[in-house]
Amino acid sequence: MASVLDYDYRKTWPVNPDAPEDSYERKAPHIDYGTERLSGERYWSTEWMERERTQLWAKVWNWAGRVEQIPDAGDFITFELGRESFLVVRGDDGVIRAFFNVCPHRGNRLATDGGSVPNGFTCPFHRWRFNLDGSLAQVTDRETFRPESLCHDLDLGEVRCEVWEGFIFINMDRDAKPLIEQIGPLADHAKPYRLGEMRIMRWMRSVWESNWKVGVDGFNEAYHVHAIHPEILPVFNDYHSQIDCYPNGMSRMVTKFAYESPRYPDAKPGTLNEGLRATMREVGIDPDTFEGSMEDVRPAVQQAKRARAERLGLDYSGFLDNQLTDDWNYTIFPNIQMGIHPEGVSMLYFRPHKSDPRKFVFDVIVMMHPQPDAAIQPPAYMGLPEGWDISGQELAEPIEIDWRDGGLGQVFDQDSGLFMLVQEGIESLGYRGAIFSEQEQRIRHFHAELDRYMNAPAR
Ligand code: FES
Ligand SMILES: [Fe+2]
Repeated sequence: MASVLDYDYRKTWPVNPDAPEDSYERKAPHIDYGTERLSGERYWSTEWMERERTQLWAKVWNWAGRVEQIPDAGDFITFELGRESFLVVRGDDGVIRAFFNVCPHRGNRLATDGGSVPNGFTCPFHRWRFNLDGSLAQVTDRETFRPESLCHDLDLGEVRCEVWEGFIFINMDRDAKPLIEQIGPLADHAKPYRLGEMRIMRWMRSVWESNWKVGVDGFNEAYHVHAIHPEILPVFNDYHSQIDCYPNGMSRMVTKFAYESPRYPDAKPGTLNEGLRATMREVGIDPDTFEGSMEDVRPAVQQAKRARAERLGLDYSGFLDNQLTDDWNYTIFPNIQMGIHPEGVSMLYFRPHKSDPRKFVFDVIVMMHPQPDAAIQPPAYMGLPEGWDISGQELAEPIEIDWRDGGLGQVFDQDSGLFMLVQEGIESLGYRGAIFSEQEQRIRHFHAELDRYMNAPAR
């Protein structure tokens, strides 16, 4: 393993220094964002939050749900983003459309929850009706309106809607670039994973007590892992990560699993720690008869996963060996992070609170390929409780929990209380702005893109 003396922040620690130009492994060119401090106002100012509403959220693609939530005509979900709410509905023609959840009459919300309305939406306030394509179907007591009043556009306000791998995104900006540009290189890198065929197996939602960007920043680096999550150091090389910054705010960090961290304090040369032994057992290797060194564990796990896939008739031919073990963590700007693995995806989703810049809505989602026979058990990093239903028969709905009660999983429970304290420190008169190591360069990359949105001329 490379020594700390080899560190070059322009290269970080490439997972494969010899990766060919067109390989998923290839390190993206370094972007120099300088060394200035980042001031704290963006994390607490109500004015900044209001400006984000029009400059950022109204301009980016926002993830609203999955296609399998609305399989039939008339099925719909509601999607909340700060003070906005949207209806996402499948039409009679099978097309998924999205509308502001705002009645054109006097603004009432048409629905507060998802459901099925094969005959279209009816507003609960005065019972105007709308077709599934958003067009007005009926005005109650039409004769009591002067005709001029009904000359206005009375259809539901439509927003753009595009689907990638089963993920439905909406965009309030009619002139926005296509969704695929926001997904960036992930669209290509994710192909072997067949995300469109995965299903949400667990979906947890909680409101955390910091700005949404404290959350995004915190999960955009592995620098804090040794301090806050030391229990994963036996199997997670948190130090030697490859970091890639791509266009449009997209970034990636590749971190080796099945590899002991150089910061693991209880390392005993010549012995395999219990975490590595458990990782081997997960894929059917007996650690007691394994003769290799710590460095041999990862390749052995990769081989075992390939062999298991073959036995189960799964196609792993598109995966690089490194993709079989490591955490390939992608950030889709601004607020989605996905750790993608052949078995499944850990997805984190950070949304602003309705009115308080000191809170955010945090969705923690586990997706897997449905396993009716439980042939592949969820790997430990997914944090699914023992015996969790992974058959994919039932659609998982968001479960709302209070972060103070715990239950999000050990790693998240460790972060939740910490982020609140970070928020408090950032708001102090003594806060002089953040400084970043180059292990944290994804954070600079994120804020540079955010600044581009915030400073763009208002349209
Ligand atoms: S507000 Fe919807 S019908 Fe009046
Ligand atoms: Fe953390």
